[in-house]
Amino acid sequence: MITYHEEVPDVETYFELRKAVDWAVFSEEQAKKALDRAVFAIIAKDGDKPVAMGRVIGDGMYYRICDVVVRPEYQGQKIGATLLDKLVNLCIKDAPENSRISVDLIAAKGKAPFYLKQGFTALPNDECGPALRKVFYF
Ligand SMILES: CC(C)(COP(=O)(O)OP(=O)(O)OC[C@H]1O[C@@H](n2cnc3c(N)ncnc32)[C@H](O)[C@@H]1OP(=O)(O)O)[C@@H](O)C(=O)NCCC(=O)NCCS
Repeated sequence: MITYHEEVPDVETYFELRKAVDWAVFSEEQAKKALDRAVFAIIAKDGDKPVAMGRVIGDGMYYRICDVVVRPEYQGQKIGATLLDKLVNLCIKDAPENSRISVDLIAAKGKAPFYLKQGFTALPNDECGPALRKVFYF
């Protein structure tokens, strides 16, 4: 049975899950700093084995979902959708009355349909221009 835990992965688990989907791992120091700064994180486990993760960074007004990963052998079982839903609900629960929050993310190539199915809107749309970013490597 898959269980979901509000828990920030340690660096080892974080790197292991990233490697499982062929994502690059960068500096351990940077990963530790980033994980320490997560606002929310969820780990899905099969028994004790971490099989998926996702986390949220943000400031209470703008939230960004990142590092959504499901181990390949566990994909296609709605684990990603469940985890994403839980992350979004944590953001919603965090919102005070009379507020507006924005939950954003950058989809990996080819993964936008997964997020569209979970109710996210692609930019640009009627209200917003495109999302923009700069990336630096050191
Ligand atoms: C993308 C990812 C998180 C999806 O997780 P998952 O557990 O396999 O997805 P789910 O089983 O919850 O899928 C939910 C729905 O999205 C659909 N879906 C999932 N991935 C999709 C894709 N790449 N393209 C189109 N639809 C997709 C599923 O078919 C399912 O549709 P349904 O509700 O009509 O049955 C997972 O494939 C993954 O970890 N990929 C590698 C890492 C990655 O790219 N992460 C995203 C970073 S932005």
